[in-house]
Amino acid sequence: MFPREADARPILGIETSCDETAAAVYDGARGLAAHALHSQIRLHAEYGGVVPELASRDHVRRINDLVRAALDQAGVVPAQLGGIAYTAGPGLIGALMVGASVAAGLATALDVPLIPVHHMEAHLLAPMLESPAPTFPFLALLVSGGHTLLVAVRGLGRYELLGESLDDAVGEAFDKTAKMLGLPYPGGPELARLADSGRAGCFRLPRPMTDRPGLEFSFSGLKTAVLTALPQAGDEQGRADLAHAFQEAVTETLAIKVQRAVDATGFERLVVAGGVGANRRLRERLGELASRRGLQLFFPRQAFCTDNAAMVAYAGWARRAEGVAPGGKLFVTPRWPLTELQPPRHQGN
Ligand code: KG4
Ligand code: ZN
Repeated sequence: MFPREADARPILGIETSCDETAAAVYDGARGLAAHALHSQIRLHAEYGGVVPELASRDHVRRINDLVRAALDQAGVVPAQLGGIAYTAGPGLIGALMVGASVAAGLATALDVPLIPVHHMEAHLLAPMLESPAPTFPFLALLVSGGHTLLVAVRGLGRYELLGESLDDAVGEAFDKTAKMLGLPYPGGPELARLADSGRAGCFRLPRPMTDRPGLEFSFSGLKTAVLTALPQAGDEQGRADLAHAFQEAVTETLAIKVQRAVDATGFERLVVAGGVGANRRLRERLGELASRRGLQLFFPRQAFCTDNAAMVAYAGWARRAEGVAPGGKLFVTPRWPLTELQPPRHQGN
């Protein structure tokens, strides 16, 4: 039997769901003790997007060194670990399998629990690594390459979906629009950089689905609007103006829906997480909204908005009582709705 509660031993977290390979160590006494990451950006850049097979192979190449680096940095030897957390989904199946296999191997060798982590729950909890950390309940805006979710968070595993994108995720819209503007992969941060030199008011793009009630999003029409406007963009300055207009449209749309959700739910805390949460203009707009409405606003640091293992180690820590004995069927899943999660069993609710 594994110890079920009050186990303060450090948790190793492993992230390999997409194109970042990462390992981190978290424990209750010290908090985040170490984190190490390798980004595959350069590997995928020449293909203009993530190539799943190459991603899996590179995770295999990198993961052991990163685990070792995180343990060394934390000053922890494997025998001191209390559990191994890994991203079990959603994500690329082959990529997930790498982290899961390494985690299962370590958990077996050390005879400690194996803790499957939901990637979006990990993103959602990333602001818990900051100070001050948000307390439950809060409204969460999760904006990544695969998801755009507005979630009422009443506790760990108590998630009510308030709205989501009916088509492209917001990060995906950033990436596809960036590609149309001739920017290299990954497009989101590149587009944001180009937008900085853009002038306001040169292009007027729609704020999709803001003219009707509801908390759903749609970003594919916006992408088409950019494509239609592209011939008028002409030179480098024109493309910067268009990038600026796109970023304004996306961030204003997100802010409008967040404001609606705040008004509908009365939450006093707002958490923003996921890769697009790194976007400076989005942070600015939500900052303005927060001060207008007297909300407390929480973001992870920039490096923990995009994929990382610190958030996985933390989520694993939060769910350590749910660790399973290694040796059974290895759990990975490319699709896994956040709302399927339950509160931890040991809390009894
Ligand atoms: O959370 P994440 O690292 O991976 C997923 O779980 O999807 O998010 C990656 C997404 C990509 O679409 C990337 O272009 C976008 O986040 N992103 C940004 C910025 N930084 C990353 N989008 C806009 N502005 C940024 N500064
Ligand atoms: Zn992610």
